[in-house]
Amino acid sequence: DRQKYIRNFSIVAHIDHGKSTIADRILEMTDTIAKRDMENQVLDDMDIERERGITIKLNAVELHYQAHDGHTYTFHLIDTPGHVDFSYEVSRSLAACEGALLVVDAAQGVEAQTMANAYLAVDNDLEIVPVINKIDLPSADPAAVKTQIEEMVGIDAQNAVLTSAKKGTGIAELLERIVQDIPAPQGDLHKPLKALIFDSVYDSYRGVVLSIRVLDGQVKVGDRIELMNNGKQFEVTEVGVMSPKAVPRERLMVGDVGYLTASIKNVQDTRVGDTITLAAHPAQKALPGYRQITPMVYSGMYPVDNNKYGDLRESLEKLQLNDASLEFEPETSQALGFGFRVGFLGLLHMDVIQERLEREFNLDLIMTAPSVNYRVLLNDGQEKIIDNPAKLPDPAEIKEIQEPMVQAEIMVPKDYVGPVMELAQRKRGQFDTMSYLDDYHVKVIYKLPLAEIIFDFFDSLKSSTHGYASLDYNIVGYEVSKMVKMDILLNGEPVDALSFIVHQDFAYDRGRKIVRKLKTIIPRQQFEVAIQAAIGNKIVARSTVKAYRKDVTGPLYGGDQTRKNKLLDKQKRGKKRMKDVGHVSVPQAAFMAVLQMD
Ligand code: GTP
Repeated sequence: DRQKYIRNFSIVAHIDHGKSTIADRILEMTDTIAKRDMENQVLDDMDIERERGITIKLNAVELHYQAHDGHTYTFHLIDTPGHVDFSYEVSRSLAACEGALLVVDAAQGVEAQTMANAYLAVDNDLEIVPVINKIDLPSADPAAVKTQIEEMVGIDAQNAVLTSAKKGTGIAELLERIVQDIPAPQGDLHKPLKALIFDSVYDSYRGVVLSIRVLDGQVKVGDRIELMNNGKQFEVTEVGVMSPKAVPRERLMVGDVGYLTASIKNVQDTRVGDTITLAAHPAQKALPGYRQITPMVYSGMYPVDNNKYGDLRESLEKLQLNDASLEFEPETSQALGFGFRVGFLGLLHMDVIQERLEREFNLDLIMTAPSVNYRVLLNDGQEKIIDNPAKLPDPAEIKEIQEPMVQAEIMVPKDYVGPVMELAQRKRGQFDTMSYLDDYHVKVIYKLPLAEIIFDFFDSLKSSTHGYASLDYNIVGYEVSKMVKMDILLNGEPVDALSFIVHQDFAYDRGRKIVRKLKTIIPRQQFEVAIQAAIGNKIVARSTVKAYRKDVTGPLYGGDQTRKNKLLDKQKRGKKRMKDVGHVSVPQAAFMAVLQMD
């Protein structure tokens, strides 16, 4: 029975504990990849990922391992992204596995993401194999880390595998343990096809390439497939496995992890978490856990150089080919000109997109402060969805404003429950329930405004629990809330791109803080710049940036021309990310000031 010899697993770890290095050693030891090709870590293939240390796109590699019992096993190593913005994708890729290697640094011990990832693995009923890595370090203390894993993660760690991925120690044992400890996939070859989509990437030749896990039945070239949640049908053009390059196969069967193409034109049609079945013999029920992922936060994106508008559109279109959760539509701003309103999963997603646009597509951008969607009911009975604070109708016309609410599930060691509740309360949270998962871990559920979650909840949660909390959230609807629009005026002129929506109770405080912050961000100009924060006609705070007097190069006495040029150069580069608003030059940072006030 071929299923008996398959093992599907992920590696999860806190950042820097050695996940990629262990993956590389595993690939090496199973001859999936030659040593000389190992210079670059294979699993994350985007530059930005490597620099940020986050895996954004998922990947699955097939490898073959000759075990001590004489059988050859097929392993599928599934890579997962590592940030709450992508937690849904992480959970879907874990759902494609039966087990997870939980890697913990022997010197650092259990840390934030160790816990968060362990929770996700437990949630998906995975068998966890604890791995204590970096035992070569002088400060390594595997015995203490074992105890810590038992106490904090709540799993037996006495027989944790001890490794030094750097030296290759313990990897042979690890491979055996994968065979012994991780269960073989269940499922029935004779049932109708059920396959989980856990990733999709766009390829200009083959169209969308789906990463799938077959849970029942089989799929082969020529099959007509149906996606159970959106009803779309396609004809399979290729199936295969990554090893680590694409290797076409005739079919993928129950237990297999591989890729599938079907001349699919865009990733929007094939959402992660959806279930593939055969159009002719469909399964009765889709796999559980599917969510239609939609943007949570919106920001205006404007080229610094107005002539680059067309380039920006093209670049966004290119990124969208590969990113089902990226949305955009044209918008104009009095202050910034022509641009786009872009929807993101969260702030990290926003950062990544901005960085890719600037780096890969060579664009200089101004981004406005992110906002959630508000639902606005007008006195005349109309309803509007407002994703741009500048577009909020006149308060006199507004009957009520509703804001999106989420149900937030926070899992945390019991000692940190106090700080978590304090934080949730401060962020306008409404307590729902609290339950013990085991002797050490508590699940706390709050209803919170999405706006509060998105802006700095995750970071505050991390710092108030030393990182030992995990967060997952789901939109649960809209609630009436006392929101007001805060306008920012420069020399008496409101700057639409600086407006934001804020809860009434925080408005005065925010107004004062933003004015203070803007004063430090807006550079001196040839004239005085008055900064005001206003709600309607009422000015709630003001401050002034004084005019400058001296030439910037003055202090250099004109003596050293190279230094002088350097300074001018630096100024010019900084200028690229400035936008003239009326007569005032406003730097990019000003538009983000709203995020940095607490
Ligand atoms: P992210 O990709 O940032 O999530 O990190 P990661 O968990 O994949 O860690 P990675 O494999 O990139 O390793 C982080 C650092 O630890 C690198 O500099 C590795 O060379 C080093 N490292 C990994 N394993 C070992 C080990 O066994 N011993 C020692 N001394 N260093 C190690």
